[in-house]
Amino acid sequence: MKQLIFITHALILLMTSCTPLIPTSIQVYPNASSVEIWTQIVEPQATAVNVVETVEDPKSEKATAVPNVIEVEGRISEILSQPTNSSITVNLISAETADVYIEYGLSSGDYSNKTETHQLIAGMPVDILLEGLKSETRYYYRIRDSEDAGPEHTFITQRQPGSTFTFAVQGDSHPERVKNQFDPELYTTTLQSIASDQPDLFFTIGDDFSVDNLKVVNAETVTSLYVAQRLWLSQIGAPVFLVNGNHEQASLVNLDGTADNVAVWAQNARNSYFPQPAPDSFYSGNTEPVEFIGLLRDYYSFTWGDALFVVIDPYWHSPQTVDNQFGAARDQKKNRDLWNVTLGDAQYQWFKQTLETSNSKYKFVFTHHILGTGRGGIEDANQFEWGDSAGLTSHRPGWDKTIHQIMADNGVTVFFQGHDHIFARQELDGVIYQTLPEPANPYYTYENQEAYKSGEIFPNSGHVRVTVSPNGVTVDYVRSYLDRSDEVAYSYSIP
Ligand SMILES: [Fe+2]
Repeated sequence: MKQLIFITHALILLMTSCTPLIPTSIQVYPNASSVEIWTQIVEPQATAVNVVETVEDPKSEKATAVPNVIEVEGRISEILSQPTNSSITVNLISAETADVYIEYGLSSGDYSNKTETHQLIAGMPVDILLEGLKSETRYYYRIRDSEDAGPEHTFITQRQPGSTFTFAVQGDSHPERVKNQFDPELYTTTLQSIASDQPDLFFTIGDDFSVDNLKVVNAETVTSLYVAQRLWLSQIGAPVFLVNGNHEQASLVNLDGTADNVAVWAQNARNSYFPQPAPDSFYSGNTEPVEFIGLLRDYYSFTWGDALFVVIDPYWHSPQTVDNQFGAARDQKKNRDLWNVTLGDAQYQWFKQTLETSNSKYKFVFTHHILGTGRGGIEDANQFEWGDSAGLTSHRPGWDKTIHQIMADNGVTVFFQGHDHIFARQELDGVIYQTLPEPANPYYTYENQEAYKSGEIFPNSGHVRVTVSPNGVTVDYVRSYLDRSDEVAYSYSIP
């Protein structure tokens, strides 16, 4: 427990004795063979506070980065998820076997409630449910054992209509692209900028766990990507909602009838290390289990204050490879018929019904990209099942509207997508198409700018902050820099 909760202290001691910092976190990982993988990823090269460890990929000269654990101040083991009006899940990983419980209450430093004691097995993620909570109420909590307590953290339960709150949305982080689109220091800056807003909710749009640069792809290496990103995202301090990306390779076409394929490894890691919502009385979503996984938890919706949140997934329901095929050259995409790329009937009907039956004043939809592939925003919104009404009759029997038309007819406020690595705000039929920047691109580039023919365009890097109030929605592009403070580069409001 001490090594878990007070890992910062341990690391400081290690640092002052000139012992490499990172080995303490090796214990986070589940088993002996995995430790070797973890060791590869975080093999320390120095002991300075700002060191970030990487593993080089000899094929691509790219690397996967993990943060220096000293920067996350003891929170590396903790991810919030699945908030409701009366509960929240705290997902923990312990460095060693430990008996812990969570104490919590309604004001800072005052912990009038506690959970049952849970035994944590070293390296195994465990969900602890806090339940019986009051709606729209801020709670303060900390993790502890019989001797010591960790730092205090906080969350808020579901907002009621009429409440003002913020949520944060992050684009493709690509921590494997250390030498071109990812700077660890800049990622930390962006994450800390997000955390400083104390958002109610945090969404990350995909391409956060790319398997495509792994030298060896197996359960351990895929899982290690989730462990690494967890070190970063544990700095957020808000419930984490994942959106599936093409580089995750969590997709239908990768299934092979066994438990040993990248899709199963990736999806199980997603739900173990970042528990995602399953359909229940609070969340709606995918009810179809998949062999060797169970419920995918890949598409879901819920309401929060005056807003409906809907996450959809292009990758788990398409019989045709949606974007880059796992293990194949990228030019395999050339011969696809994108009418064979689909959200699938079940997700389509669920999406349509979810929007049509929502009474929320504001509606936000998230997915990695229109159709899960291509480049551009509204430039792509008239294509195939997303927007080709004329082609729908022959290609999608039983579908009476395109995806875009469903959003337009039901007053979707903002559609968020990533994939293109650029901030772009466009509008079509009353729907804002908001493309997200990368959070940590140190070159501040306009990636894929040529695909965007209209709209407000800004270069990388940063995140999008959304404030929802009874008077409207404000969207801020908060840019992050290596050499100066973050700033709101662009802002717009929606009544
Ligand atoms: Fe990406």
